[in-house]
Amino acid sequence: MTTDIPGTMNAMVLTGHGGLEKLEFHQDWPTPSPVPGEALIRVGACGLNNTDVNTRSAWYSKGNTDATTGATLAGADDNDGSWGGARITFPRIQGADAVGEVVSLGDGADPALMGQRVLIDTWLRDWSDPLNLERTGYFGSECDGGFAQYAVADQRYVHPIESEFSDSELATFATSYATAENMLNRAEVSVGDTVLITGASGGVGSALIQLANRRGAKCVAMCGADKTPGVHAVGPLAVIDRSPADLRAALRDATGWDSVDVVADVVGGVLWPQLIGIISRGGRYTCAGAIAGPVVEFDLRTFYLRDLTFTGATVLPPGVFGDLVGYIERQEIRPLLAATYPLEKLREAQQAFIDKRHVGNIVAHPFD
Ligand SMILES: NC(=O)c1ccc[n+]([C@@H]2O[C@H](COP(=O)([O-])OP(=O)(O)OC[C@H]3O[C@@H](n4cnc5c(N)ncnc54)[C@H](OP(=O)(O)O)[C@@H]3O)[C@@H](O)[C@H]2O)c1
Repeated sequence: MTTDIPGTMNAMVLTGHGGLEKLEFHQDWPTPSPVPGEALIRVGACGLNNTDVNTRSAWYSKGNTDATTGATLAGADDNDGSWGGARITFPRIQGADAVGEVVSLGDGADPALMGQRVLIDTWLRDWSDPLNLERTGYFGSECDGGFAQYAVADQRYVHPIESEFSDSELATFATSYATAENMLNRAEVSVGDTVLITGASGGVGSALIQLANRRGAKCVAMCGADKTPGVHAVGPLAVIDRSPADLRAALRDATGWDSVDVVADVVGGVLWPQLIGIISRGGRYTCAGAIAGPVVEFDLRTFYLRDLTFTGATVLPPGVFGDLVGYIERQEIRPLLAATYPLEKLREAQQAFIDKRHVGNIVAHPFD
């Protein structure tokens, strides 16, 4: 089943690890064809993520200990440059958060998908062993993603959506909100829990605020001073500056609390010992990122003497993405679209994403 599909397309292609120059725009890249069970999607918009930046710069390599800056990293090694710790194959089309319309189906794919507006679950899994975390991949990392006019995905990752949000708005959700929901699930956040959220002006942080509120928790957000009004508008109980001299004093000033039940962190770095110190006895720390630095000072005594529980959150269990689609359809969460760029200007878009003067997320348009 097909509509008119050109044999070549515009695509932003990552040619290797390094700086922004490794992203090359092509206007004659082969359009992918869906194999049995796959759908071909005409991409209306695709959101940016730090995974794109970190994969390009091989930030994930254990040889690197720097914060995410988007620059070439001296200690990084190509052999473990991907999120999963393996070597990545180039050329690669990145872009996990694709939104679009199904325009063609491989043999055996569900005909009801044809013409549907869809989001893509970003986590690839081995469907014969779907709970096996070792057998997973990320859309736009272990296979080509959405920084192109067309992308293919196994139909099991393709989620039809009914929504009045624009494609650009929908493209702000997938990675950030699914990651945030997974963090909150892993930390078992529920009604009345107090939650401190770092990186709250960013994609995951702003999603954490909305999703924690959605489940009746009380959250406090940390962000750069210039972004305080924008973060307040997302709906936390209070906002704290991202670099307080004394985090406990800042928390007390903002809320009257001495501690929190849960810290939901995507920042790490030098603040980390204070983040752990602020968790109440028996409380939880959940983490999905380390944008300010992955190597932190860890006093084991704080961890075991205070009966803390730590959870990492990366690969989504099946079901989380479907839940997210429901929240979007019912407008229980809202998009924070900061800017859009034509795909051809993805280098500029990624530089703006790295400069971080925005609240929410930035999105690329393959057909502009
Ligand atoms: N595990 C996963 O599956 C997963 C999924 C998504 C993201 N992540 C990771 O989670 C982290 C956040 O992702 P995101 O998409 O929310 O990123 P983002 O949109 O770029 O937001 C990150 C926020 O962190 C704050 N920040 C604090 N210290 C910083 C520093 N030293 N350098 C840069 N920013 C700093 C910034 O806000 P202020 O300027 O307001 O402080 C920024 O808005 C990244 O490390 C990303 O790789 C992981």
